Amino acid sequence: MQRLLARGLVLMGTMILAWAGAFTSARMNADLTALLSQGPRVAGTPAGRAAGDYLAAELKKVGYTVEFQPFSYSRTRDQGSNLKVGDKDIPVNALSGSPAGRLEAPLVVVMGIGRAEDYIGLNARGAIVVVRRGGIPFLEKARQAATVGALGMVVVNNTSGNIRGTFGGGGPIPGVTVSQEEGQALLGQSGTKAVLDVRTVSEEVQARNVIARRGTGNPQAIVGAHYDSVVGAPGANDNASGTVTVLELARDLAHSPISQRVWFVWFDGEEDGLWGSRKFVAANPDLVRGLRAMLNLDMVGIDVLGKLGMGGDAQLFGLAQQSADLEQVSLQDLGANEGGSDHVPFAQAGVPVLFFTWGLDANYHQPGDKIADLALMAQAGRVARGVLERVVQ
Ligand code: BES
Ligand code: ZN
Repeated sequence: MQRLLARGLVLMGTMILAWAGAFTSARMNADLTALLSQGPRVAGTPAGRAAGDYLAAELKKVGYTVEFQPFSYSRTRDQGSNLKVGDKDIPVNALSGSPAGRLEAPLVVVMGIGRAEDYIGLNARGAIVVVRRGGIPFLEKARQAATVGALGMVVVNNTSGNIRGTFGGGGPIPGVTVSQEEGQALLGQSGTKAVLDVRTVSEEVQARNVIARRGTGNPQAIVGAHYDSVVGAPGANDNASGTVTVLELARDLAHSPISQRVWFVWFDGEEDGLWGSRKFVAANPDLVRGLRAMLNLDMVGIDVLGKLGMGGDAQLFGLAQQSADLEQVSLQDLGANEGGSDHVPFAQAGVPVLFFTWGLDANYHQPGDKIADLALMAQAGRVARGVLERVVQ
């Protein structure tokens, strides 16, 4: 009887410890509030810097060695671009990386999303092409347009409102996006003369990755999340959600031998074209070669898919499935090529990757991206912890 009681007490004690130790909402909520309080964490801005400082301070509190990896790149800023069709001024957003320029040319509407085959039988030479968003990256659309001699490109959004998109590097011709509502009318105006004024200026960005480690030597796994966000969006789901989940996972593992073999990395400059992860991979070739896994958490605070989406390496997915079964979380296999985020440069370097997301919510890259659900974040974090327990030796 006494032994039973003692065992019961030990079990209860363990449960309380586990409950108090891992993924506590109060702490994660404080992190979210701290990150969102500064406004959009655009790479190279004071808010971005403050976010990096906050992460470093929190990680030091639980005993991690923290390093910043500084890097720079150039980015374009839109100083107000415009499309004039007849007498009507239509507001447009320049794609980041777009060259500046003022073009007077006829509109040519492309039937489709701007693949090579969409131009068959179409003369777009000297035109401003109008294409639909989706299917292929903006840069690919612009390359196809430039190949057939188009001078500029207008991409019509495929969801309500407009977005701030990027070429993810330098674009070949001036390119802009227009809201779905304004764009609808343009799709019927082939041949109409238009003036496209793209007013981008280029600026040098000073950004920083935040790297936390405990052990000496190279890690067996990396867990990462980007902590930057786009202009005009608070970036709660994209990606304070992943940022805070990885921070809490680092806290949770701080006293486990696992953290001797794992590096936690918060990437900067993701939204401008995966700069932080590309710089990390380029700067650490030996380390990257030895990795068994790279786990990337991006948009883990709003349930869009109805299941926790997971893309990447099939073997790692199998381990995630084991972990998810124990945590009673349902997974959706997103396959090998899903998502433009920081796992991509690692995958391209041959590292087995796993990308965690609950999906792309309606407020993606919009001022309304203000909410992330702590319970969903905790579920993603627990599944990630289970993968590390199975990967790291
Ligand atoms: N958070 C997104 C990526 C994402 C998309 C995660 C869907 C989960 C579901 C990321 O910050 C982003 O916006 N990526 C860009 C590409 C990047 C190279 C600028 C994108 O997906 O368009
Ligand atoms: Zn993101």
